[in-house]
Amino acid sequence: MRFSLLFTAIAAFASAFAADSTNPGTCSTIRVRREIRQLSAQERAAFFAAIWQLNEGPRPTIWDSYAQLHSEAGMLVHRSPRLFPFHRRLLLDLEERLDAILPGFALPYWDWTLDARDPASSMIFSPTRDWFGSQGTCVRDGGFANFGVWYTESGVQPHCLSRRFDRGAQMSPIFPPSAIANIIVNNQDYDLFRFMIETGPHNLLHRAMGGDMGTMVAPNDPIFFLHHAFVDRLWSEWQALPGRFARYDGSAGGQAVSLQDALPHYGDTVRSMLNITELCYRYAPSGTEVSRRLTANQEVFN
Ligand SMILES: *[C@@H]1O[C@H](CO)[C@@H](O)[C@H](O)[C@H]1NC(C)=O
Repeated sequence: MRFSLLFTAIAAFASAFAADSTNPGTCSTIRVRREIRQLSAQERAAFFAAIWQLNEGPRPTIWDSYAQLHSEAGMLVHRSPRLFPFHRRLLLDLEERLDAILPGFALPYWDWTLDARDPASSMIFSPTRDWFGSQGTCVRDGGFANFGVWYTESGVQPHCLSRRFDRGAQMSPIFPPSAIANIIVNNQDYDLFRFMIETGPHNLLHRAMGGDMGTMVAPNDPIFFLHHAFVDRLWSEWQALPGRFARYDGSAGGQAVSLQDALPHYGDTVRSMLNITELCYRYAPSGTEVSRRLTANQEVFN
């Protein structure tokens, strides 16, 4: 029963996700990462089914491995210039895994500026099977109801996906589009921009969602990848402004960083993570004020 549903959903998804263009360079296609609300219910169902599939089999599952590697990389890739390039690589890792199940798959992102005032009321937390469900010590509704995960910050501790919104059933307001656009435009220095995004909206969303998302095993929650895809989009928008594309500075472990540095776990250089076109994807605008203001700014600079 579940499998026939899965395969029907995958077929619908695969055709809808056919990439939009062919790149004459090294990419056979360019994946278009869309805002989660731009996916159809069938596309979301296929995406969710593929995640459940990655979480099948003996523990630790493929899904579990993301929480483990994120937690192991820990402070090497947080409060550090490596935040953006490491998470860009991590997202590509999952995207490749999902592509093997759903050919042409592009990760969706969650533009939480659309939900800034009252994130808990976001459609994303709807209790129906084609959304992510609400909160609870064990999330019991939505597409990830009773989703079993393996790791906590203190090691192996099998549990059910958990969310504990920081204001009971409510979440703290998230940064509105204008605040995000201002951070992007006003911080030309790479590590200052990274600091403003990481310690501001990035951390706030993790803490406001709580449960697994509030810990270093945050990749237990599928929403982690949508949150980080949006953070990745913000870096790419920052990079697109004049003179910023390859800027990378600051220090990690007391040493000045460089574009030649190898990323923890993956070993790829930071430089290899700079150009999302060469990494064969792009972001579809979500139509928020962030997109509009940045477009306006780029027109002014050009
Ligand atoms: C990124 O890569 C694409 C494809 O190779 C290239 O056309 C573009 O100029 C690169 N962008 C930058 C800013 O170097």
